[in-house]
Amino acid sequence: MRPWLFCMVVVVLVVVLAFPGRALGGPGGSFLRALGLHDRPPRPHGRSPNANAEVPPLLWKIFQRKSQEKEAPEDHAGGGGGCWMEELHAPGNILRRFADQGGPAHPRAPPVCLRKRLYFNVSALEAGERVTAARLELRFGQNLYRAASTSGPFDLRLFRVTRASLAGMSAHNRRAVLSQSFLHVHKSFSFDVTPVAGDWRTPSRNLGLVLEIGARDCSGLDSFREASLFVVSLSRCRSPRKKRGAYYVPPAGAANVCKPRGLYIGFGDVGWENWIIAPQGYQANYCLGECPFPLTEELNGTNHAILQTIVHSLDPRGTPQPCCVPVRLSPISILYYDNDDNVVLRHYEDMVVDECGCR
Ligand SMILES: *[C@@H]1O[C@H](CO)[C@@H](O)[C@H](O)[C@H]1NC(C)=O
Ligand SMILES: *[C@@H]1O[C@H](CO)[C@@H](O)[C@H](O)[C@H]1NC(C)=O
Repeated sequence: MRPWLFCMVVVVLVVVLAFPGRALGGPGGSFLRALGLHDRPPRPHGRSPNANAEVPPLLWKIFQRKSQEKEAPEDHAGGGGGCWMEELHAPGNILRRFADQGGPAHPRAPPVCLRKRLYFNVSALEAGERVTAARLELRFGQNLYRAASTSGPFDLRLFRVTRASLAGMSAHNRRAVLSQSFLHVHKSFSFDVTPVAGDWRTPSRNLGLVLEIGARDCSGLDSFREASLFVVSLSRCRSPRKKRGAYYVPPAGAANVCKPRGLYIGFGDVGWENWIIAPQGYQANYCLGECPFPLTEELNGTNHAILQTIVHSLDPRGTPQPCCVPVRLSPISILYYDNDDNVVLRHYEDMVVDECGCR
């Protein structure tokens, strides 16, 4: 067996072990764990084929910015790289959208036009994640305008439920966390709830919130659509290293030498298109090629690999060449549904092979 063939067999074996079942066809358990999923999420029910329509605009915006950042890695200005969520001004590599499970809104007459219980099940946050920001967003079906002189502003009040009885609707069982007046709402309205949401990781402390919007004139508030909680967290994130633009071009005549080769992985091809929203695939690359004696500097060999090539040149049958493996990988961002159908944007390390070396 040619030594490079031996290396390839090792790579194929690793792939088969990591993706049990159909080789490369079934979802790999270790990859799912890296995504923070215990199992492949169930095929989402009742979801339109165009799932993109359900992704909150904020997540799309960040995903698109991060994808562009990836294409132009030299320009981190403002972006802050993979461990910083610029749009939420907080460190983090994971952004989750939790849908409100607090039941329907109750439209009412002035002075309290809308009263609603909000509940967000944040149990998808893992122990190793540090919550750095949480933002509550209220969406309306139309823009709302008020003239300060005539109809007066909207008064928004948010209470934290402190005792489960009566769903917190009674004044004794709730504590004010926010009170704000506003004249315009451009379809959505959001505010910082970081201290409250951080505390919800203890389920017994998560009794939800009560939202009240008061006004002299309730018109427009019946267009209330939904509430979402956006949570930024940080988990095992390395600051991005500067990526070199071009691949190593091997000297002429050395076409078979160890180097990165182009490989596009389509998530549809591995059966993950139902829960990975974006990207549809990505340029993952792989390493292939020989690690011949003498090992040149370009091949990024370890001292051990250099000695192994020497021994191999003396005894090709007894000792294989070192293996051509990834020595530098870079991250990508993935937008997906977690096991509870929350939309998550997460920055994953070590997804793209940038450089190879002999090891
Ligand atoms: C929150 O979600 C988890 C995981 O889906 C579930 O086990 C738990 O019962 C939920 N809690 C509540 C209060 O709904
Ligand atoms: C080895 O590393 C250098 C820079 O550290 C890089 O330019 C080169 O492409 C790498 N070699 C391979 C085979 O990827």
